Amino acid sequence: MFRIAVLVSGGGTNLQAIMDAIEQKKITDTEIAVVISNNADAYALTRAKNAGIATKCVSRKEIPDRDAYDAALLSAVDEAKVDLVVLAGFLVVIPEAMIRAYRNRIINIHPSLIPSFCGTGYYGLKVHEAALKRGVKVSGATVHFVDEGTDTGPILLQKAVEVKEDDTPEILQRRIMEEAEWILLPQAIQLLAHQSRES
Ligand code: GAR
Repeated sequence: MFRIAVLVSGGGTNLQAIMDAIEQKKITDTEIAVVISNNADAYALTRAKNAGIATKCVSRKEIPDRDAYDAALLSAVDEAKVDLVVLAGFLVVIPEAMIRAYRNRIINIHPSLIPSFCGTGYYGLKVHEAALKRGVKVSGATVHFVDEGTDTGPILLQKAVEVKEDDTPEILQRRIMEEAEWILLPQAIQLLAHQSRES
């Protein structure tokens, strides 16, 4: 069984897409070993608990010291003994020690076509606000491996989505989720789970 940890901060629609894809056997021989959040109120944690998946909260409020926080996050991931770490709307910078320990085994979903609208400060709705402000006619989503930079790691999958005349950031965000993110992230997990079985 290919074991994954899913790290979340918010609503968890991408987590839901992964859970649904496992249920529908679009992702095979894979289990979510744990869902980890930095935010105790994240609805993503409720989704996981309702599905009987183990959850853990590693909260910045409870561990304000950065080094101690980084160590706690790494040990939460280590304890789950996973093959892959999936960042599904996780808005905490990944500690360098974790990047080293899980090189090429951490993936992130970003709601734009990298290298557009990515890097420090580009997360959630801010990405879509910037895309609309620039007037692009196409945006999309990217799944990439996580390295020491912000959104700089090797790109695994991308999907383009049309930007429409009357889009608000919220409408564009929803279309990119529906047409790209919720498809790409499960695809990426299936791809890596399959690769690992063949290697
Ligand atoms: C998603 O749109 C994801 O791409 C984005 O946060 C949202 C989380 O939604 N991630 C980033 O902006 C990372 N830089 P969700 O909690 O409903 O999956």
